Amino acid sequence: MMRRYQVRFGHFDDARREYVIDRPDTPLPWINYLGSEAYFGLVSNTAGGYSFYRDARLRRLTRYRYNNAPFDLGGRYLYVRDDATGDYWTPSWQPTQRDLDEYECRHGLSYTTIASARGGIRAETLFFVPLGETLEVWRVRVTNERDTAADLSLFSSVEFCLWDAQDDATNFQRNFSTGQVEVADGVIYHKTEYRERRDHFAYFACSEPLAGFDTQRDTFLGAYRGWDRPAAVERGAAFDSVAHGWAPMGSHHVKLALEPGETREVVFVLGYAENPRAEKFDPPGSQTLNKRHVRPTIERWLRPETVAEGFAALGAHWERLLGGFQVATPDTDTDRMVNIWNAYQCMVTFNMSRSASFYESGIGRGMGFRDSNQDLVGFVHIIPERARERILDIAATQMDTGGAYHQYQPLTKRGNNDIGQGFNDDPLWLILGVAAYLKETGDTSILDEPVPFDNVPGSEVPLYEHLRRSLNYTRERLGPHGLPLIGRADWNDCLNLNCFSDTPGEPFQTTENATGGSAESVFIAGQFVLAAKELAGIADLRGLGDEAAEYRAAAEKMTGTVTEHGWDGGWFRRAYDFHGRPVGSGENDEGQIFIEPQGMCVLGGVGLDDGLAVRALDSVAERLATPHGIVLQQPAYSDYRIELGEISSYPPGYKENAGIFCHTNPWIMIAETMVGNGDRAFDYYRRINPSVREAISEVHRCEPYVYPQMIAGRDAPTHGEAKNSWLTGTAAWNFVAITQWILGIRPELTGLRIDPVLPAAWSGFRATRAYRGATYEITVQKPAGVTGRVTHLLVDGERVDGTLLPVAPAGAVVRVEAVVTGPAD
Ligand code: BGC
Ligand code: NOJ
Repeated sequence: MMRRYQVRFGHFDDARREYVIDRPDTPLPWINYLGSEAYFGLVSNTAGGYSFYRDARLRRLTRYRYNNAPFDLGGRYLYVRDDATGDYWTPSWQPTQRDLDEYECRHGLSYTTIASARGGIRAETLFFVPLGETLEVWRVRVTNERDTAADLSLFSSVEFCLWDAQDDATNFQRNFSTGQVEVADGVIYHKTEYRERRDHFAYFACSEPLAGFDTQRDTFLGAYRGWDRPAAVERGAAFDSVAHGWAPMGSHHVKLALEPGETREVVFVLGYAENPRAEKFDPPGSQTLNKRHVRPTIERWLRPETVAEGFAALGAHWERLLGGFQVATPDTDTDRMVNIWNAYQCMVTFNMSRSASFYESGIGRGMGFRDSNQDLVGFVHIIPERARERILDIAATQMDTGGAYHQYQPLTKRGNNDIGQGFNDDPLWLILGVAAYLKETGDTSILDEPVPFDNVPGSEVPLYEHLRRSLNYTRERLGPHGLPLIGRADWNDCLNLNCFSDTPGEPFQTTENATGGSAESVFIAGQFVLAAKELAGIADLRGLGDEAAEYRAAAEKMTGTVTEHGWDGGWFRRAYDFHGRPVGSGENDEGQIFIEPQGMCVLGGVGLDDGLAVRALDSVAERLATPHGIVLQQPAYSDYRIELGEISSYPPGYKENAGIFCHTNPWIMIAETMVGNGDRAFDYYRRINPSVREAISEVHRCEPYVYPQMIAGRDAPTHGEAKNSWLTGTAAWNFVAITQWILGIRPELTGLRIDPVLPAAWSGFRATRAYRGATYEITVQKPAGVTGRVTHLLVDGERVDGTLLPVAPAGAVVRVEAVVTGPAD
């Protein structure tokens, strides 16, 4: 199929909550996620991707090869062969790339279907992970649409990963000798031992009697062949190969004789299981896997009825999860993002943090301390109990100094030192994550939960004490201007201001200087003001009035410091470098204005009383806003600068060097609503909304249903091109910006606020919002052309002054009416 760019590569099917891709050669792989609890998979529109149990690095079931060409290769491939002619193809197009007469991929909520037809043979595959199971189901329906009988072969294939994805990709001298499989009763078991833990295995089963099987990749493919023309498929017969070392894989060969019009359903199940070591072999000491306890599960999920029920249950699950918050606004792109895709992306980022996507290897970065706290703010209303558990896991990795590991492994829940510590914004995010949880749930019992430091047993203190240490971490680390020390970096990982070298040309130093240096961050200052105010509110809830007052005073003091040392005349400065020189200032030749402090300072309330906020936001509009979103800074750095670090290592317009780093855009949207500018907030929202950008898919290139981390900025030759889709704080923050600030349905510590700041042209909207056990049916009316605010609410017909809803009893259904009044546009 020739690549022929067109504006769209599919369309939204909102009624089914699906994105429908109508040609396989999308500009980039357009992917989806399977599973939402313990067993996960990535699946692209051509069936690419891989699966893992809990941890994409340590428990990888199937292999994925990085830096591959084509990008999207390696996955859950099925081959169909016409045994009368020898013609064969892959219904997912990849990897054979044989022409398909029809093709349609539907990415839904935790499932994907790929349907296609060639030469009168239709194949439709559904991929999903049933709730509560550690397995994935592939349900294949093959239909003979010819008017003659068809003799077909169907081959499945997965390549197993030897569990530790890092080791699997590098340690060949060992791994070529360790692979072990077993085939029993038509089920392929992958039982390669994994060094220190020797208790788990994978199974790959098929509902039909087998004509053959393969478990050795290079036998199945044939020497010097790739996945586009496996020898077994080409000759129409499996080799019944048994892997001893090399590259274990799983392939079933099924023969299908179909009458005209006949459809056959074949189910494949790929799963993960554990046996206690002592019970792993049967009899003990043999090499024969004990699979007694997985047989019933396998048999159950190979039955079409179980599959149908499991798939229906998944649909009902998502209906329940999303049903708690639905909106009907004048803007379709807003509705489908809020009601479906943005909420879904929040679930995925909550589950994956920054570990596994087509842009994150699943190896390098586990759960980020900063990232996961932020993911919570968009997810907490969906399953608050899981947010609670996550908060406790994150907090348990905190140090007693208040400092944090930058990330931890999902399987072990232990801090991982790969990237180290000393990102001085990290601790404050814990306060903001916990505040979001409390605002949603009102569950203050979490504050009394005993949580250790660095997972050391015996070191437990109440979670609330962790929050105090988080705040103190900043207060104890102030620099020459009284602003927070940046440490290794703040939110902007690439602003490495303590990485300096006195001798030009010498490598920068990363040890002492990286964390102990004197560079300061205005961003952390704004974040500190926000967090101190949040913690004050939490202290009030605990009846700690004096402590609350002290936090408010600290916020006030830092506000003064920012105004004095962090204001550049037209906007907030970004930082001071190691030598005390401003960064993000008119004094600089490049990097004069950064987006992050304009957003975060205003979020903290800095500049709201004295007009600085409005001026800063106008500067953003003038200097940073582009039609594709707001760039991170301007002018872009044209060359590497050792005193600024990684930020200047990117070519102009990409990533932190003046890319449109989407994560930061919602901070500006929120700030705009705080100064009452609904039109600008919503305009910014639409610039990066992927559903809006669907119309320019040939420019945007990433999936039109989820936010990317980055869109190339105006300095880039590819301005408007997105990268790094799915795993980004953009998901949570945009959800917060549109729902809590623009639509104004905002959980607070004491209840739900209804305070929309809408675009002038709108004439209101409706919403259903579950909150603390009650359901609110909200109607906001606004004469088109008016830009005002809501001043009072009608709650079940009764007038309530202000915009804070009284908390209704659990189970209640409450009708809320709000009218926006105020000046005309
Ligand atoms: C990227 C950042 C990312 C960091 C993670 C950098 O190269 O530019 O966006 O957060 O790596 O370590
Ligand atoms: C992506 C990282 O995941 C996030 O933690 C960071 O804040 C941004 N990059 C900006 O550097």
